[in-house]
Amino acid sequence: MTLQEFQADIRAGIPSVLPAPKPLDESVSHAPRRKSILSHDEKVLAVQNALRYFPREQHEELAREFAEELAQYGRIYMYRLRPSYAMYARPIEEYPARCRQAAAIMLMINNNLDNAVAQHPHELITYGGNGAVFQNWAQYRLTMKYLSEMSDEQTLVLYSGHPLGLFPSHKDAPRVVVTNGMMIPNYSKPDDWERFNALGVTQYGQMTAGSFMYIGPQGIVHGTTITVLNAARKSGKKRSLFVTAGLGGMSGAQPKAGNIAGVVSVTAEINPSAAEKRHSQGWVDELHYSLDELMLRIREAQHNEEVVSLAFVGNVVDLWERLAEEEIEVDLGSDQTSLHNPWAGGYYPVGVSFEEANSLMASDPERFRELVQESLRRQIRAINRLADRGMYFFDYGNAFLLEASRAGADVMEGDKFRYPSYVQDIMGPMFFDYGFGPFRWVCTSGKAEDLAKSDEIALAVLRKLRETAPQEICGQLDDNIHWIEQAGANNLVVGSKARILYADSEGRIEIARALNDAIARGEISAPIVLGRDHHDVSGTDSPYRETSNIYDGSQFTADMATHNVIGDAMRGATWVSLHNGGGVGWGEVINGGFGLVIDGTDDARRRLEKMLLWDVNNGIARRSWARNEGAIFAIEREMERTPTLRVTLPNVADRDMIEKIINYSI
Ligand SMILES: NC(=O)c1ccc[n+]([C@@H]2O[C@H](COP(=O)([O-])OP(=O)(O)OC[C@H]3O[C@@H](n4cnc5c(N)ncnc54)[C@H](O)[C@@H]3O)[C@@H](O)[C@H]2O)c1
Repeated sequence: MTLQEFQADIRAGIPSVLPAPKPLDESVSHAPRRKSILSHDEKVLAVQNALRYFPREQHEELAREFAEELAQYGRIYMYRLRPSYAMYARPIEEYPARCRQAAAIMLMINNNLDNAVAQHPHELITYGGNGAVFQNWAQYRLTMKYLSEMSDEQTLVLYSGHPLGLFPSHKDAPRVVVTNGMMIPNYSKPDDWERFNALGVTQYGQMTAGSFMYIGPQGIVHGTTITVLNAARKSGKKRSLFVTAGLGGMSGAQPKAGNIAGVVSVTAEINPSAAEKRHSQGWVDELHYSLDELMLRIREAQHNEEVVSLAFVGNVVDLWERLAEEEIEVDLGSDQTSLHNPWAGGYYPVGVSFEEANSLMASDPERFRELVQESLRRQIRAINRLADRGMYFFDYGNAFLLEASRAGADVMEGDKFRYPSYVQDIMGPMFFDYGFGPFRWVCTSGKAEDLAKSDEIALAVLRKLRETAPQEICGQLDDNIHWIEQAGANNLVVGSKARILYADSEGRIEIARALNDAIARGEISAPIVLGRDHHDVSGTDSPYRETSNIYDGSQFTADMATHNVIGDAMRGATWVSLHNGGGVGWGEVINGGFGLVIDGTDDARRRLEKMLLWDVNNGIARRSWARNEGAIFAIEREMERTPTLRVTLPNVADRDMIEKIINYSI
């Protein structure tokens, strides 16, 4: 297809003459069949809802097709409307648009639907099994058409993928405002998602899927690297030994991150094809099928102080039990099996083969459940033995400790888990409370040399900030300097030319200013999109993950994420998004994000300064009000730098004094 044909297709939106139906393309991965949950009347309503995008004369033909899709897949994707042009982040000038901001958004949308990037591209799912960009292809087409027509005095409103329309606004307003899955709170149970998504009135946007900010596996490799680096520091050893499980979607980042962090890592993976896939991609160095051989190899790697990633193709329980027997000193331990989904393939019990387990979970779910729980008890027993010998173990946000406790494993100390989560111990107090979070940028030229130049600029900024940084944030800066020094060589770019690093408010603003200046000087050839994922200081209210180190009770509120989006919108964001649901589940989290296009102008500079300051310090102020020490330090420092910032600081009352008074009065 020529560029002109591509542009004409975008401008056409939903074509007036229906394209021929498309057979299912077996060359890409498809979303699992969704639960059939609708009543007869609701099925009628779902088809009626879908037909709203089409003229009456097409209704009969399409009603038949949509009813069939609903019966077969549990959703109406409107496969027939999937465009036939290649879907990827094209250079910005290829998009037909009246304003560059809109063209940049189109690029980001196309990236999220790229076959090389998205998990189930034809069902418009970017990652996480259900993280949707749009609910159906009509929404995609109509949105792209609106974006191609909009001026910089209009705002496009998206309700869970549905383009409500273009509304008059002004230059400083966001070009797009996105909400995903925002429900009346009482209608936010998992089955509500199934029902209302099947009806076509809401979707699960995950974090960066429905906010057009996904950058492939780089984000997860970076986050895991930071976590492993800091966990390794706790051991105080030059070469820590890190033992974990899972070589799947996100968990597959562990060995790669282990290498960047400079440890010996051992990752168990029960599914041979998952292990082989990661090995062939170069994400894990060696596969081992025998525990005897693996033990020898671990000792050798420790003795030679190697940096190497080893995988055990087998059950993680066998690995832990053997390590406990061998008396090998493990420094760090974690687990990234999918225990958020324990009964349907997220966790494989020990003692049965992978194939047997797959059939048992359907043929005898009760027995399968017992086996999973017995495995978890055994896994914790072995982990406890190693922890007693000095291993630092942490939960990786996968509900491992929660499910182990439900299985009756010895993992509680009073009413608390014996081990911390990675946010409670590492991400929260060391990063989020100081404002460090997943800042990212995308070079809209699509040119590798622009990305390389931007890496250089970011590295220079971080090194300069490091010279005068207070001791409290030197470690965080060092980790990210280490990361960005290696980022190009680690070859992590899949899809758009994107980079991620963790920076605080000052770092993000300084890097963004320097990038804007480089665009103005022509050293970077096209605008840059700034953004972040929602796993951040201010973006996400999620009591068992991002805000799990908030202890004043407010971890169950969602004011921070809501305010964040409103505040970003009024300070110049190009688009903003507010979502119910992210990594931990529908109803369990509210998260928000933004995209900001910088093009080298003074206008862009004004926006980035105002918006990024708010985007980070909103969360620090909230964390400081929750009495988190790092956040109190960080917000006081920001108030010195920014005289117009005035934050309410907490007076910290003595807990013992209150306890005595309460005990006395009771
Ligand atoms: N990496 C992160 O930053 C992060 C953050 C938060 C949560 N998580 C959580 O981590 C979990 C993993 O995510 P994912 O995308 O990799 O899921 P996934 O399902 O793709 O991968 C999990 C892997 O674990 C393997 N496995 C299951 N049981 C096993 C066993 N007993 N022994 C050995 N291997 C076993 C599976 O075969 C699978 O390949 C999820 O629950 C996710 O929510 C990860």
